[in-house]
Amino acid sequence: MTRFSSFAIALVLGLLPSLLRAETSMIKETPFGTTADGIAVKVYEVSNPSGMKIRLLTRGATLIGVDVPDRDGKLADVVFGFDNIASYESDSNQYFGCTTGRCANRIAKGKFSLDGKDYQLACNDGPNALHGGVKRSLDKVVWDAMPFEEGASRGVKFQYSSPDGEEGYPGKLDMAVTFTLTDANEVKIDYSATTDKATPVNLTNHAYFNLGGAGSPTINDHVLMLNADGYTPVDDTLIPTGEIAKVEGTPLDFRRSTRIGDRVDELTDTAALGYDHNFVLNQAKPGEMTKAAELYDPASGRLLTVSTTEPGIQFYGGNFLKGQQGKGGKTYAHRSGCCLETQHFPNSINTPAFPTVVLKPGETYSHTCIYGFSVK
Ligand code: GLA
Repeated sequence: MTRFSSFAIALVLGLLPSLLRAETSMIKETPFGTTADGIAVKVYEVSNPSGMKIRLLTRGATLIGVDVPDRDGKLADVVFGFDNIASYESDSNQYFGCTTGRCANRIAKGKFSLDGKDYQLACNDGPNALHGGVKRSLDKVVWDAMPFEEGASRGVKFQYSSPDGEEGYPGKLDMAVTFTLTDANEVKIDYSATTDKATPVNLTNHAYFNLGGAGSPTINDHVLMLNADGYTPVDDTLIPTGEIAKVEGTPLDFRRSTRIGDRVDELTDTAALGYDHNFVLNQAKPGEMTKAAELYDPASGRLLTVSTTEPGIQFYGGNFLKGQQGKGGKTYAHRSGCCLETQHFPNSINTPAFPTVVLKPGETYSHTCIYGFSVK
């Protein structure tokens, strides 16, 4: 054997394990452009053996694609998103698929007090603070990503350490958000956080779903079940009054599966402009994994089941969508997508009667949400 051929054989043998890994890997990493601040962004595509795929972006630890089969096995991408980073950074992006926080949802007048100190956050939703702030909320920062493949579970773990005082919140908050795609066509999202000062934490994911495929004209024909006897009524700026009211006899009663469009117009002339409400889940005990919602599209047969450890879920029916252009030139019309955001109740930091959102040093915040896909 010549020296060259033995070198070539050694090279091939040396590369073989990584070539095999590359072929069998269920995770693909691709560049996704650069933020306006010059930070490189990556997208991870994660597949499972039955062909379901999800795509995850390092900016905002964002779920930007979910390809799932309909009842004939035909795949469609059922979540909203954009094809480029400039659109994610533009006004067209209404929190599409992002990790939302440090405090998802509203804080009245952006004010709260903790350990005898008053805090003022930026008010970006009329008089209130919404979804963690303006420049450095969790949807806008670029997270570190660690893809993993362990047996039947594969996904990406995102990490971000928010410095003390970022967006006005106290404490250095170290967070991890792990997306796992299971063999059972579930997207499992595990959140955890620790802090060095008492601070409010309420993380969620803000994916917009249309089970007919993102860009389909409406969600009014989807059928929804919410496992909630109660909801948190709000004032005219969407801040809860503190009361927990019964859904019974209102257009918010989804305890039996009901077409979304059947009663939405009864809410059009309210402050919420349609569905944009926090539901109090029927949970056997706090923190116990509970089925929260089922969203079904009779046309495609796709069924989304949402389970969570959180006490509440915000059902937002896409009332602010304005016909912006999304992935593949699709249009996202008014009420053509809906969010099912598992979370603590809005303005909990100022409402002692609600389950607390205060995380203290030495404690670990944890929250699991499972978006499971099937057909019927
Ligand atoms: C939410 C809020 C809505 C709206 C959307 C983003 O879930 O409850 O009122 O602000 O986010 O457009």
